Amino acid sequence: MADKQTQLDAIAKAIVDDNITPDLAAQATQLVFGDGNIDADVVLIGEAPGKNEDLQGIPFVGASGKFLNEMLEMIGMKREDIYITNIVKYRPPDNRDPKPEEKKAFLPYLQSQLEVIQPKVIVTLGRHSMNCFLPDLQISKVHGEAKRVRLSYKAGSDIFEVVILPLYHPAAALYNPAQRQTLIDDFAAIPSILKQL
Ligand code: URA
Repeated sequence: MADKQTQLDAIAKAIVDDNITPDLAAQATQLVFGDGNIDADVVLIGEAPGKNEDLQGIPFVGASGKFLNEMLEMIGMKREDIYITNIVKYRPPDNRDPKPEEKKAFLPYLQSQLEVIQPKVIVTLGRHSMNCFLPDLQISKVHGEAKRVRLSYKAGSDIFEVVILPLYHPAAALYNPAQRQTLIDDFAAIPSILKQL
């Protein structure tokens, strides 16, 4: 079996070769596949790249990313300790929400990515990301509640036990002081979740 990085490179290449969301691809500067530690226990999943991410090819490097880095620091972690990606891997024009068909098109690639990394904790940022894993839940009701789930990323593939921690999206929390504090408080649960594993 090829090493993890080789497998991840192959998934990124497949997104391009399979011509996933050609309309988004045509408008984007580049694919924003993922960044960070491919052996991490924690994977954070956002929605889709914004302007800065599109230009740099790295997820969460703009204002939301700065806030995320601050929260990581608050819990004694660094970007190098985690892996970070998005559901949709091309920037939607004008930062609009990803469309259901765009999320659906990228989901198998996200699942393959997770199957390679095998995180123990998946932190979903925002409702779009949460609903990929927990489709029937409302973020306002369940944010900060760690859910232990058994999931198979693909039909017939291995079962993985993971903890999913649904959090508000940092971009939404940035401009809403109450939500900002809620997100900081919810984020602070990550070390104790990791300790309990
Ligand atoms: N928001 C996201 O959901 N992802 C990014 O990469 C940047 C902002």
